[in-house]
Amino acid sequence: IKVYVPRDSTALALGADEVASAITAGAMARGIEIELVRNGSRGLFWLEPMVEVATPQGRVAFGPVAIEDVPALFAADFLWGGEHALGLGLTEEIPYLKRQERVTFARVGITDPVSLDDYLAHDGYAGLSRALDMASEAIVQEVLDSGLRGRGGAAFPTGIKWKTVMHAQAAQKYVVCNADEGDSGTFSDRMVMEDDPFMLIEGMTIAGLAVGATQGYIYVRSEYPHAVAALNEAIRHAREAGYLGNDIRGSGRAFELEVRMGAGSYVCGEETALLESLEGKRGIVRAKPPLPALQGLFGKPTVINNVISLAAVPLIMSKGAAYYRDLGMGRSRGTLPLQLAGNLKHGGLVEKAFGISLRELLYDFGGGSASGRPLRAVQVGGPLGAYLPESQFDTPIDYEAFAAIGGTVGHGGIVAFDDSVDMARQARYAMEFCAAESCGKCTPCRIGSTRGVEVMDKIIKGESRPQQVHLLRDLCDLMLNGSLCAMGGMTPYPVLSALNHFPQDFGVDSGALN
Ligand code: NAI
Ligand code: SF4
Repeated sequence: IKVYVPRDSTALALGADEVASAITAGAMARGIEIELVRNGSRGLFWLEPMVEVATPQGRVAFGPVAIEDVPALFAADFLWGGEHALGLGLTEEIPYLKRQERVTFARVGITDPVSLDDYLAHDGYAGLSRALDMASEAIVQEVLDSGLRGRGGAAFPTGIKWKTVMHAQAAQKYVVCNADEGDSGTFSDRMVMEDDPFMLIEGMTIAGLAVGATQGYIYVRSEYPHAVAALNEAIRHAREAGYLGNDIRGSGRAFELEVRMGAGSYVCGEETALLESLEGKRGIVRAKPPLPALQGLFGKPTVINNVISLAAVPLIMSKGAAYYRDLGMGRSRGTLPLQLAGNLKHGGLVEKAFGISLRELLYDFGGGSASGRPLRAVQVGGPLGAYLPESQFDTPIDYEAFAAIGGTVGHGGIVAFDDSVDMARQARYAMEFCAAESCGKCTPCRIGSTRGVEVMDKIIKGESRPQQVHLLRDLCDLMLNGSLCAMGGMTPYPVLSALNHFPQDFGVDSGALN
């Protein structure tokens, strides 16, 4: 009997290792032979650790399973489909999962993440096989035709970035994966790396073939030790099986890959600071131009893409550009793995085609607030994303629709707050975050954020509020237009959206807004 207990860090944090040991011991004590698979997480975090059992009808789920539940599960014959209060029925029929479009995340939670055989048995390396028979231009064209845009947050067309690197003339080029997922409430990169690392390895290998790069680096934040371990193990297996190295699967093409760890700096997720850090220097933002596509790592043409962008590539190559492009709305094609966090009943990973509304995500998937109080504000796109009020919950997840309301989809992180939130304190937090994480290279961000905290403190204390609010707007205007990178340049988004949508929390009425 095959039993699945996730090894994803969310499940581990909730006791998955102990549950796995208890199930193994329980089976042994009863003389039952089981094969325990440590799969990835399905992304239904409120049900973790979610244990699954393979049955002739499909996998059935139980969750959240605590170590104390294990004897009762055995007593209820859970391995043979016995009923138990924690039973969730067939996993694929759980509405939260069933209503998704798991395209990039198709294998996540299903396979053993570090088993190459399992990866191959689930369409793994089908994209690379096709790419190996194609010319560089054709691979780049396929990615261009898919409509894929950078999933790190900037939404720049991936195919255009690759084309720039492909056309650049240089003896050495690089592919760098930005896995410094620092946005609050985000975890989709982590899930790919921990739960389906071969997909990222395959995507980077295809990128290397497309642009003529032979070396890749995955820059992972140090807070993700399980991701680093899973990647290193998967890279080793891929190399042993000839999917990496000097002669990929006998094609005569070469690509090698290494993992590098960050050191806890948010701004190292900015691509040029990341390159500095990869080169062994302090993570300070470089001025652009030159674009990394032309002069990136060690001054060489470099593709830098987010984990999710690269992870989408194997499927685009195996199923064709049209398959991906046919999903979505407007200029936002394909799917986005959205991450539900904060004050929501059902936090987790929801992959949907662009076009789903924020409200559907918050209520149909998220189940409303965890506290039972009304939702008041939602921050989409990380700590630099705008706070959206209830009146904007019907906005579809679409890059242009969010830009039109002064927001950003970013990396798809959604953090919900109920009506106990104080939006002035959230605005202060944005300034404080910027002050803590600023790389210090430019004045509007380095000094502006510290002045911003001071101004917010005065507003919160009630000192000469209208003047301070005026000053805050001035400061935001300067940071927005004068900062060198998105760190200082986007900090005004949460601040101004909080002020514009929730003026009462700043002790000013809307008449005093400007
Ligand atoms: P950007 O708009 O400057 O650049 C987007 C990308 O396109 C870059 O890789 C750039 O080098 C490339 N590019 C632009 N023109 C090009 C051309 N002609 N040829 C080839 N490549 C070209 O945006 P940036 O500063 O890289 O990212 C800002 C975004 O990052 C924000 O929108 C924010 O949502 C997101 N972000 C994400 C975080 C996360 O944890 N995922 C954390 C913080 C911010
Ligand atoms: Fe550095 Fe901030 Fe300027 Fe970006 S905006 S370059 S993080 S000081």
